[in-house]
Amino acid sequence: MHEKSQVLLNKAVADELHAVHQYMYFHFHCDDQGYDLLANLFKKTAIEEMLHVEKLAERILFLKGDVEMVAAYPVEKIHDVKGMLKKAAQMEHESAKEYNQWANECSANADSVSKQLFESLVADEERHFDQFDVESENLEKFGDRYLALQSIERSKVRGSLTGGTAE
Ligand SMILES: [Fe+2]
Ligand SMILES: [Fe+2]
Repeated sequence: MHEKSQVLLNKAVADELHAVHQYMYFHFHCDDQGYDLLANLFKKTAIEEMLHVEKLAERILFLKGDVEMVAAYPVEKIHDVKGMLKKAAQMEHESAKEYNQWANECSANADSVSKQLFESLVADEERHFDQFDVESENLEKFGDRYLALQSIERSKVRGSLTGGTAE
């Protein structure tokens, strides 16, 4: 049933799995470097991408296909925050563009449910793009102070600046 849609839905699964892997990789490195705000943003977004995989998988199975659980690309080992945000924004931009096209293709093939699914993903990817873009602008505007502030926040939260006991 709707073989062409199944191909597109599986391509989206591959993109989403790549995003899950890439963003969790960024999460690990931001967490390691003490940038909690960005670490949380990457983790939260990775979880949303995983939920996208779930929605796509449900639709593929409904159409009597099977889910190819293979990421579209290997993880890029980027360790600097500027590069991470640039890569993430670029991935979101690409996904939104592709999903718009694929929504149109599903519509042309009289599969309006898959079309609507792709449209709902476009809205999420545009929101993700905006979040990464805002953080990129903040980094551009405030430079190293933007990163220093995140490290200081972590120290505050962990009590080493405020509630820590002097020994
Ligand atoms: Fe997604
Ligand atoms: Fe996304």
